[in-house]
Amino acid sequence: MEFEKSELPPYTVADTPQWRRRRPGLLRRSRAVKFVALACLGFIVYAQWTQLTPSSTSKRAPTSLSIERLEADLRTCSKLRTKPTDPIGLGRERNARYIDGHKPTLIKNATVWVGEAVEGTSAEDSWAGKGFEWINADVYLEYGLIKQVSKDLDLSSVSSDYLVYDAKGRQLTSGIIDMHSHAGVGSLPELVGNQDVNEMSSDTTPYVRSIDGLSPLDHQIQVIKSGGVTTSLILPGSGNNIGGEAYVIKHAVGKPDGREEISASDMLADPDRTWRYMKMACGENAKRIYGKVGEHGPVSRLGESYEFRHAFETAATLVREQNDWCDTAETSGVRHMDSYLPQDLKWESLGAVLRGQVHVNTHCYTVPDLEAFVDHTNEFKFPVRAFHHAHQTYLVPEILKRAWGGAPASALFADNMWYKAEAYIGSEFAGKTLWENGLTPIYVSDNPVLNAQHVVFEAAKSFGYGLPYHAALASVTTAPAERLGLGERLGKIKPGFDADVVVWDSDPMSVGATPVQVWIDGTAQYEDPVELRKPLSGPIATDKSIKSVPEEPITAPNVVFTGITTSFLSNDLSSLDDSGANFTVVISNGKISCIGTCVREFEAAAKSGTSVINLNNGHVTPSFVAFGSLLGLNAIDAERVTDNGASTEHFSRGVDGLRLDTKKLHYAHKYGVTRAISAPKFTGKMTHFGTSVGFNTGALHSLEEGAVFADDVAVHYTLDDASKSGVGSISAALGQLRQKLLKAVEAEREGENVADEYNEVAFLRKVVAGHIPLALTVHDADGIADALKLKSTVEEASNSTLTVVIIGGAESHLIADELAAAKVGVVLAPLQSYRVTWDQRRALTGAPLTNGTAIDKLVDAGVLTAIGIEEDSLVSNMGLLAGIAYKNSGKRLSQKEALDLVGGNVYKMLGLKGAEQMGDFVVFEGSPLEVGGRVRAVGRGKGQVSLFV
Ligand SMILES: *[C@@H]1O[C@H](CO)[C@@H](O)[C@H](O)[C@H]1NC(C)=O
Ligand SMILES: *[C@@H]1O[C@H](CO)[C@@H](O)[C@H](O)[C@H]1NC(C)=O
Ligand SMILES: *[C@@H]1O[C@H](CO)[C@@H](O)[C@H](O)[C@H]1NC(C)=O
Ligand SMILES: *[C@@H]1O[C@H](CO)[C@@H](O)[C@H](O)[C@H]1NC(C)=O
Repeated sequence: MEFEKSELPPYTVADTPQWRRRRPGLLRRSRAVKFVALACLGFIVYAQWTQLTPSSTSKRAPTSLSIERLEADLRTCSKLRTKPTDPIGLGRERNARYIDGHKPTLIKNATVWVGEAVEGTSAEDSWAGKGFEWINADVYLEYGLIKQVSKDLDLSSVSSDYLVYDAKGRQLTSGIIDMHSHAGVGSLPELVGNQDVNEMSSDTTPYVRSIDGLSPLDHQIQVIKSGGVTTSLILPGSGNNIGGEAYVIKHAVGKPDGREEISASDMLADPDRTWRYMKMACGENAKRIYGKVGEHGPVSRLGESYEFRHAFETAATLVREQNDWCDTAETSGVRHMDSYLPQDLKWESLGAVLRGQVHVNTHCYTVPDLEAFVDHTNEFKFPVRAFHHAHQTYLVPEILKRAWGGAPASALFADNMWYKAEAYIGSEFAGKTLWENGLTPIYVSDNPVLNAQHVVFEAAKSFGYGLPYHAALASVTTAPAERLGLGERLGKIKPGFDADVVVWDSDPMSVGATPVQVWIDGTAQYEDPVELRKPLSGPIATDKSIKSVPEEPITAPNVVFTGITTSFLSNDLSSLDDSGANFTVVISNGKISCIGTCVREFEAAAKSGTSVINLNNGHVTPSFVAFGSLLGLNAIDAERVTDNGASTEHFSRGVDGLRLDTKKLHYAHKYGVTRAISAPKFTGKMTHFGTSVGFNTGALHSLEEGAVFADDVAVHYTLDDASKSGVGSISAALGQLRQKLLKAVEAEREGENVADEYNEVAFLRKVVAGHIPLALTVHDADGIADALKLKSTVEEASNSTLTVVIIGGAESHLIADELAAAKVGVVLAPLQSYRVTWDQRRALTGAPLTNGTAIDKLVDAGVLTAIGIEEDSLVSNMGLLAGIAYKNSGKRLSQKEALDLVGGNVYKMLGLKGAEQMGDFVVFEGSPLEVGGRVRAVGRGKGQVSLFV
C-alpha cells in the first residue's frame, strides 16, 4: 500500500529534543544524511520486528499510546493535507451515479445550447458572449454520461438497444442548477416537525451537516425538478453566522426516478464527495436570533465579525496543531509520539475550510457585511465561492475583487427586494452590472423562499433586465457548476458531462418556459409528462440588445410614440394587433389623444415641437393594478417603523394608514402598476383585516388630486391559518364573522341609525346590503367552501346579494364550479401556488407534473379570476405574471384576457370603473407579457405622463 511506502515512520531513533521540530527541511545537510542512513536502518529493523513480533505487542508504543491509532492518525494527516481538484468529466467510462441496466438514450433533432463558446473563442470574447449559439444536433446518452453531441449521429458503432426520444426541434439545455436551496431540510408543506434548516443551538455550528436532515421524500424535490432543475446545493439556513455543511444533490429519488434506493446519500451529485461545502451568513439574522444584550453576542455586526474571527482562529489553531503533529509524526515516527493527532469534531469542518477543501458560500447582503467578510478571508486565507443574497455586491466590485483567492460570485434573486432592511438597497440590474465588471451573477431560489421550480425564470428576468443572454443562461448552468467545483461535469451539453438534460417547450429565457422531459444521469424522469400546447417558436433572438431604462422618469404633458404594433386598449383599436404594423400614439396633456395612423395629429404634434419616440414593437395597454398586497402600507416588510402594523383586534381602514412616495411605489409606477388596492394587515404578510383603499401609486401624498380613487374598496377578513391568532381557532374566527354579518343584517332590517360610518359595523352593513365587496383571504378548498356557505347564509338572512372575493385561492381549483355558481371571484396570490403551507398542499404546480394550474381550472369553470401579488416586490412582474398565465394557458386565454387578470378583472370583481376609464395606460417597448418588454411611458389620468426614455 502506498501509505506504507511513503509514510511509514522512517526511523526509530529517539531524538526527543527534535521531535517537535516543525521544519525538517532546515536540518543541516550532514545531519540529514545521517538521519536518512539511520532511517533506512531503522526501517529494516522495524519491518523485521513487526513481522517477528506478535501483533499484540506491536500495538504498544513506548508512550503507551496505541500504535494502531497513531498510524491511523498518520493516515489522516495525508487526508488533511489533500487539496481537492475539480473531478474530471471527460475520461470517465461511466458516471459514478449510473445504475447498471439503464439503457442508452438518443435524443434526436434537438436545438442544443452547449453552454460554451465554439472552440477557438478567446476568453475575453467568450465572456462577451461571442461564439455562443443554439445548434441543431442529436445527443447520445450512455452510462449516465453525454457521449456524443452532433448532427446526424452515426450510431452504427454503439449498442442498438437504445431508447429514442424525438425532440422535434425543441430547445435542449443541460439541467438547471440551483445553488441555494433548502429543499429536503425544510420540507413542504412547512410543519413544525419537519423543519431542519437551522441548528439554532448556537450561532456557530460548522459541525452540523444539512445531509443529516435531508428528507428525500420532500415532494418539493419533485416539484423543483419539474422546472428543469436537476441539481441543487442544499444549504443550512442563514440564522447562524456559521451554519454548517452543505451538499450538492440531484433531484432523483427512488425507483420512480430510476434510482435503487430512497436515501440522501444516493442523491449526492458527486458520490466521491470531492469537495465539501459550507454555509455562512452575515448581517441581520445572527444578531437578531442569538444576541442577548448583556449576556452574549452577537448583538451587532461588530459582534458577528468577532464570532467569525474567533471561530476561524480556533480552527486555525487546530490546523496548526495538527500540522505540527503530522510533521513530527512523519519525521520522528508515530512510535515516538506522546499524543494522538489533535482532533475536534466541533472545528474539523472549519479546519477543512482553512485547508482549502471546502467551498464556502456566504449569505451577505450589505456593503459592511461584504467588506468585513472579505477581510476575514484575507486574515484567515480562505476563498469564498459565492456571496448569497448579495443584493449590494453590484455596488462594490472592488471589494469583491479583494477577496482572498479571487472574487466570489453573487448568488441573487432577479428582483425580489424590500423584505428587510438589508434587502432594501438592491437593483434588478445588479446582474448586468456585475457582469459588466467581470463578476459572475448566479440566480438562485432560496427554496422555499422562491419556488425553485421557477429558478430559471429568475435568470430569464435577469436577461430582461439587461444581462446578456449567454450570461443569463450561464447563471443557472455553467456558472453555478463551476462554483460548485463541478464545472467539468455539470452545466454543459458536451461529451463527458453528466447526462442531465432538459428539453423545453419554449426558450428557457422566455416567460413560462416549461420542460417537456428531464433526464438525470441519462435516465428520463417522466413516463407520461403533461405537455403544454405551445407552438414551436425556436430560440429568441439572443443578440437582441436589451437597453436599460432610466431608474427615474421624466414627466411631460405631450409626446408621440411611433412603431406601435399592438394595442390592448378596449376602445377603437381592436384591429391593432399586427407585428408588422407601425402605428402611432399621440399623447396630449397626459392623455391619449390619438392612436392609429394619426397622420394629422402626428404632423400637428411634430410642428409644435413635441418629442417623437420611435419604438421597436411598441405595445399600449391599460395599466396594471395590485390588489391585496401591502403596497402603500409599508416600505420595508420587516421594519416596524416603516410599516402601518398589524392588528388582530382593531378593524381599521387602509386609507388611515396610507404612506405614499416609497421605493415600492416608485417601482410599481415604473413597471406600469398605476393603482393599488391595499388593506391593513391582520397578522403578517398576506393577511388582512379592515377596508382596502384604492390609490394611485404615483402620488406624493394622499391629499394630492386623484391620489385616493376609492376610500373603502372592500371589507377584508382572514380565514386562513392566521385567523387563529385572533380568537384561537379557525372555527371561532368563522363563527365570529358570521355572527357579525348576521347582526349587520339585523341592524339593516331594523333600520338602526349608523352611529359611526367608519366602524366595522357600518362597513358590514354595507356588505350585507351588497354595496361593498367582502374579501376573504383563504387558500384551502374547505376554507373557500366555508366562505361560500357564509355567503349563502347571510344572503338568505338579508335577502340581498353579497359580493364576495377570495384572495389566495391556492386550492380554489378544487371548488371551481361552486365558485362559478356562487359568482365569487378569485384573486390568485400567488399565481403559481405550491404546497408551501399546509392549506396550499393541494396546489397544482403545472406541467410536466399536473395538467394545468389553478388559473386554468378557474377559467374553464368560468370564475372571474385575477392575479394578486403575495409579495410586494412582485409589483415589477405583473405583466410577466399575466404572460405566464397566457403562455401556459393552452390557448384558453388571449393576450388581452391575460392582461385583464392584472387589470380589468380586478375592477370588475370589485365593482369599480377600470384603469382605462380613469385614463391610465402604459406604453411598452416589446410585449408587456414577455421578458424584455420595457415600460416607456406611464399615464395615470393626470396632465403629465411619466417617460422612461
Ligand atoms: C426537426 O424538427 C423540426 C421541427 O419540428 C422539423 O421541421 C424537422 O423536419 C425535424 N428534422 C428531422 C431531421 O426530423
Ligand atoms: C414607423 O414610422 C415612423 C414614421 O412614421 C418611422 O420614423 C419609424 O422608423 C417607423 N418604425 C418602424 C419600426 O418601422
Ligand atoms: C326578497 O327580495 C325580493 C326582491 O329583491 C322580494 O321580491 C322578496 O319579497 C324579498 N323577500 C323577503 C323575504 O324579504
Ligand atoms: C388536460 O385537461 C384538459 C381539460 O382541461 C383536457 O382536455 C386534456 O385532455 C388534459 N390533458 C391530459 C394530458 O390529461
